[in-house]
Amino acid sequence: MTRLAILGASGHGKVVADAAQLSGWSSIEFYDDAWPQRTVNGVWPIVGDSQQLLASAPQFDGVVVAIGNNAVRREKLAQLKSAGARLATIIHPTAVVSQHASIGAGSVLCAAAVVNPFCEVGEGAILNTACSVDHDCRLGCFVHVSPGARLAGAVTVGDESWIGIGACVRQQIQIGARVMVAAGAAVVSDISDNMTVAGVPARARQ
Ligand SMILES: CC(C)(COP(=O)(O)OP(=O)(O)OC[C@H]1O[C@@H](n2cnc3c(N)ncnc32)[C@H](O)[C@@H]1OP(=O)(O)O)[C@@H](O)C(=O)NCCC(=O)NCCS
Repeated sequence: MTRLAILGASGHGKVVADAAQLSGWSSIEFYDDAWPQRTVNGVWPIVGDSQQLLASAPQFDGVVVAIGNNAVRREKLAQLKSAGARLATIIHPTAVVSQHASIGAGSVLCAAAVVNPFCEVGEGAILNTACSVDHDCRLGCFVHVSPGARLAGAVTVGDESWIGIGACVRQQIQIGARVMVAAGAAVVSDISDNMTVAGVPARARQ
């Protein structure tokens, strides 16, 4: 039996649990601070809160954080690592990952995500449903590429940045840290840290 603990009994958590089940994890338990008011997430049990997971983290074969907020995911993953957790990387069986790409620990690749050769993806990333990350991209830690978003070749994305659903990023663009790219945006020029951009072409929002 392989035991996986997931912190965060969210909708995204259900997606992570489903991908984990399909990729061979035989026992899946959620932890969430909504416990004991909530005891189930989809078909999976919620068995404790985050403190209980920290206390028992080394007992699991793998631990993953299913929290969409990039900064919070970073904080929780750091706490779990300090508590001795083994970070699991969850890759849905329909995701396509080049053998020449690297994926950081604690990351989640959802159904039909594609990561092409010579990409580097940092720790704790979410590569969501049917997103594509093309050749030579460099993604920092705790990045989220939303469903259907597309990064062309040699794009860089800084830590904790969020590429919104259906957004496109032109080749060789550099996106800073903690950037929000709005849903459906087309990024055609570099973006500095902490910016929110939207539209086609993407422009800074006030
Ligand atoms: C860009 C975004 C962060 C703005 O959120 P917000 O600050 O709550 O903004 P609001 O919804 O209050 O909208 C503010 C203005 O921005 C516009 N706007 C919002 N989202 C936009 C988008 N994706 N593209 C263009 N304009 C957008 C709104 O129409 C509104 O314009 P107005 O002031 O002229 O009426 C958000 O809309 C977004 O795109 N989030 C990404 C969601 C996503 O990818 N989810 C995937 C989850 S897996």
